[in-house]
Amino acid sequence: MTDVKPAQPLDATPGNGPIQWRVLKFGGSSVATATGWDRIADAARAAAGEARRFVIVVSALKGVTDRLEQAVRALEGRSPEATAALIDELRDRHARLARATGIQSGALDPLLDDLAAALREQAAAPEDARHGARVLGFGELLSSRLGHAILAAQGVAVDWLDSREVLRADDDSRRNERARWLSADCTVAPDPAFAAALGDRGAAWIAPGFIARGENGDTVLLGRGGSDVSAALIGTRLGAERVEIHSDVPGLFTADPRRIPAARLLRNVSYREAMELAAMGAKALHPRALIPLKRHRIPLWLCQTERPDIDGTRITPEAHEHGAQVKAIVQRRGITLVTMEGLDMWQQVGFLADVFGVFRDHGLSVDLVSTSESNVTVTLDPGANPTDRATLDRLAADLGRFCQVDVRSDCASVSLVGLGIRTILHRIGPALEVFEQRRIFLVSQAANDLNLTFVVEARHAEKLVQQLHQQIIPGGVGGDSVFGPSWDRLNRDEAAIRAVPPWWSQRADDLLETLGDDDAAYVYALDQVRAAAARLKTLRTVDRVLYSMKANPHPDLLRAIVGEGLGVECVSMAEARHVLAAVPELAAEDLLLTPNFAPRAEYREALDAGIPLTIDNPWLLEHWGADLAGRSVFLRIDPGSGLGHHKMVRTAGSNAKFGVPLDELERTLRLARAHDITIRGLHAHTGSGILHPDNWERSLEVLTGIATELPSVEVINLGGGLGVPDRSDELPLDLMALDAGLARIKRALNRDVQIWLEPGRYLVAAAGVLLARVTQLKGKGEVRYVGVATGMNSLIRPALYGAWHEIVNLSRLGKAGEHAYNVVGPICETGDVLGLDRLLPESREGDVLLIANAGAYGAAMASRYNLREPAVEKVIDAERR
Ligand code: LLP
Repeated sequence: MTDVKPAQPLDATPGNGPIQWRVLKFGGSSVATATGWDRIADAARAAAGEARRFVIVVSALKGVTDRLEQAVRALEGRSPEATAALIDELRDRHARLARATGIQSGALDPLLDDLAAALREQAAAPEDARHGARVLGFGELLSSRLGHAILAAQGVAVDWLDSREVLRADDDSRRNERARWLSADCTVAPDPAFAAALGDRGAAWIAPGFIARGENGDTVLLGRGGSDVSAALIGTRLGAERVEIHSDVPGLFTADPRRIPAARLLRNVSYREAMELAAMGAKALHPRALIPLKRHRIPLWLCQTERPDIDGTRITPEAHEHGAQVKAIVQRRGITLVTMEGLDMWQQVGFLADVFGVFRDHGLSVDLVSTSESNVTVTLDPGANPTDRATLDRLAADLGRFCQVDVRSDCASVSLVGLGIRTILHRIGPALEVFEQRRIFLVSQAANDLNLTFVVEARHAEKLVQQLHQQIIPGGVGGDSVFGPSWDRLNRDEAAIRAVPPWWSQRADDLLETLGDDDAAYVYALDQVRAAAARLKTLRTVDRVLYSMKANPHPDLLRAIVGEGLGVECVSMAEARHVLAAVPELAAEDLLLTPNFAPRAEYREALDAGIPLTIDNPWLLEHWGADLAGRSVFLRIDPGSGLGHHKMVRTAGSNAKFGVPLDELERTLRLARAHDITIRGLHAHTGSGILHPDNWERSLEVLTGIATELPSVEVINLGGGLGVPDRSDELPLDLMALDAGLARIKRALNRDVQIWLEPGRYLVAAAGVLLARVTQLKGKGEVRYVGVATGMNSLIRPALYGAWHEIVNLSRLGKAGEHAYNVVGPICETGDVLGLDRLLPESREGDVLLIANAGAYGAAMASRYNLREPAVEKVIDAERR
């Protein structure tokens, strides 16, 4: 390198810990940009301060190895022009990066000359994998040499270390020739003498990834993605305190974050789980890298180069202590399924050996297996097998000698991954409902108890992953040690999320004054209700919003909401009568009645009053068809699987009593026709408290599918369920994404159909708070209780669903939390809890606690249990003062 500033020695201030090695690996995108190198220099400085000896392992610049592979395949070394063009291209690419970092790259010329020679040799003897390996190794040689100069120019003095000096390939003559050159194995163990000797030569190094030394000193490769493996092996040989892999994602996620933005960063996983995830396709990590680290208990940290502020995934020996848990939902596509049927296979000795022999003869390795008396079904993993049509046809023909064979190549596997899956099947049971309408070809519970896998049609895999993820992976903001923030959240502007404090935090005096001398009261802020209605009115795809009044039937709220131009959805005639009385300007046709298992008289009353009616049971048409003859109704469909904040509020799938199941639809429509009943609208409501916009898109997809066949349908009602964040730093429902998703599906239906929504919670939850005075305090061992004047008789949600409501001491707002309290009410039930383990300032008798987000399903679900009257209800309005 020329014109390099003299490198400064790194900060040699002794750290507190012992002198140890750390290995940091940077991937192809990180080393390809000047800002990437700024981050690498920062990381080197940090490592120098903390571990004090380190090796930086680098990949080739993004795209370079692919380009070299292409040159090898096309034998570009045969043509002097092609070779010269390739060398120029690579010189340019590296020179551009050099310029961007303020250095010159002339010193790469000798390496480029060597590469040209290697290309020529490779093209002259293409069957000899040795030459190909040598060519491909140049990407890392170039990037590490250039990086050496860039770091020096940044004042970070490192020496260049030839990885081939550290890593020697195993002498494994059983493996095939190509594999030994291109994907060599390398077994290492901590080698204190080597580590000390290297330390004596220098404390800071940069080394090329991907390459190792083969017999006779030739360069061999560690397989694609091999720089991760290099870092792990170098770290192992040095007995490093840890290895860090820096890339363009901060680690492993609970699902592929590019497909599922709600996927959460995994903070801590065990080696075995990480290996399973990497093998299942998690891109952040090469599975082979984990083998030496696991054996020698060296921690591996995954980090995002561009975002050093995020604590990424940590794979450590201690992580297995987290216990059984599903950590991720992953899919693999391109799975081939081979089904072998034969009546005489039962108890026939050697049948499996025979058929597996056929797979062996075709060089195919079997992945999953399931057997019964007359059927053996297996899958072939595309990563390990050539699954072209011709190979599969030959396989089928040979297997045909033993049994009937069916081969399908349009399958995908969907796996739940995590330690101890077997012990938690009962917990994931309800989530498995998502498979109700899907054909499952094979279920396999891995012998290592790390995954539960379902093989399904590939076209269903994506949705299944989404649904399972939503139901199994806990939501929330990542306060726990396993599940970190979501991808979505990591990429949103944090400041914007935190910028909006809850309305009540600005209106403490007003609230205390409103409570007056009462011991407990619900207080609703009408301005907040109107604001929520206004937000819903921005949904351009939605033609009409009806308020689901079961969430809160307070007359003032009903009037405010109708005043905003919304209709009202009721579930009983009592609700309908109540709202018609409370809001005189409302007409019967502004309502929609959606009863479920209600008595016949109620349907008759609604029809007589001219209230639009939704029916959700073919039985009703069969037995009470005469009542409905000649009328127009809405039909509630069960789209097959439900979502929601708790299993008790998921209202679709066979465990929920609502809606007409899809397999009863034909019969229901026939019955309707027989009674001359017009299906004017279709309806689906899948559950409550949903924060993912794709829920309604999915319902719309199902309902538009039905509407295509039903010209009488003018309205599609997608129900309610719009969630509200429980915690202040949780992300709200993305209404814009919801709108865009609906618009996409609506466009596909070439007909003018109106879209309606009927949310309850979204309009009123955040607008309401429950205020309750502290009655008594108690300590029991480690546990502190603070008692308030009302409990589950006013707000049953924590007891019934384990719902989390924020609780603050309104009388001491702004004071730091001092103690963790269980906040309890006066009802004679152990479940009479409003919140567990809440950090509050020291609280006294008479203080007022505020329980937030209590406007929906609070007063509406209150009771007089113990003959304690629930909290009274009061209304405030910032706009009418
Ligand atoms: N439409 C229908 C047909 C419904 O069954 C419901 C609620 C809604 C609309 C309104 O759902 P929302 O937008 O409020 O999520 N007590 C539970 C909620 C039960 C919801 C029942 N159905 C809770 O406190 O979370």
